[in-house]
Amino acid sequence: MRMGGKPVPFGFDEEDLVNIVDALRSRPSLDLCGIHLFAGTQILDPDVLIPQWSHALALARHMSDLLARPVASVDLGGGLGIPYFSGEVRLDLSQIKSQISALSRLVRSDGRLCTAQIVIEPGRYLVGPCGIYLARVRAVKTSRGSRFLITDGGMHHHLAASGNLGQIVKRDFPIVAPARMDVVDLLPCTIVGPLCTPLDTLARQVHLPDLKAGDLIAILQSGAYGLTASPIEFLSHATPAEILIDGGKAALIRERQHAGEGAQQTRKEQSV
Ligand SMILES: Cc1ncc(COP(=O)(O)O)c(C=O)c1O
Repeated sequence: MRMGGKPVPFGFDEEDLVNIVDALRSRPSLDLCGIHLFAGTQILDPDVLIPQWSHALALARHMSDLLARPVASVDLGGGLGIPYFSGEVRLDLSQIKSQISALSRLVRSDGRLCTAQIVIEPGRYLVGPCGIYLARVRAVKTSRGSRFLITDGGMHHHLAASGNLGQIVKRDFPIVAPARMDVVDLLPCTIVGPLCTPLDTLARQVHLPDLKAGDLIAILQSGAYGLTASPIEFLSHATPAEILIDGGKAALIRERQHAGEGAQQTRKEQSV
């Protein structure tokens, strides 16, 4: 997803750099120490990422010229992607590594940048693969020849998996039946949540074992932009528990909430 180089509500446009530097220079209480960019997210192609970083360094040099002193910090933002959908492949870090050497030579040899702290802040890349979202099948239904698994979780827990978080074309996250990984006979099914909207679809025509009410489904790559990027308490539906597994030990880090509990809590807080 592109977040820079077009009209955007975030930060300031690079064309305004001269004016911004000017405006900040006239305020002695502010110390302009560097530049922070965020050009896009979910980038799987090093040939997109490296030119972005290189452009950021050029902007930082320009800022240093305007300030007439070296910059102390250049934050290149996040953006490193992970594969979710069929046909997507892992970002090739070896390719990034080989191209980054040229960038770091450029940084070291330029007095405007050589003392700067260069930062990248990957989010999705670090934590996306660490999280798994589990939902339980409540019922199986056939409608006009299509088989639906209706689960106790849905887009209010995992908006991204439902395709409603910035996707133009809705595609399915990787989904498995964790207790039936060895089953080879798979059936097509559509997985939906309990909300009263067709947007609440977690997967379309995926192939899974013949699951029944009570079985679990697991959505992989769910550690980033999962629960915290979702409309929890949608129409007072329950929020899920969160479990952290650290060194093989499981700890409950968020209690499961039951339907309507959030609203009740708010009413209680208001009446105190
Ligand atoms: C300021 C900032 N840095 C880093 C990130 C992480 O981005 P990504 O997950 O694309 O690496 C975000 C995500 O919103 C952000 O707003």
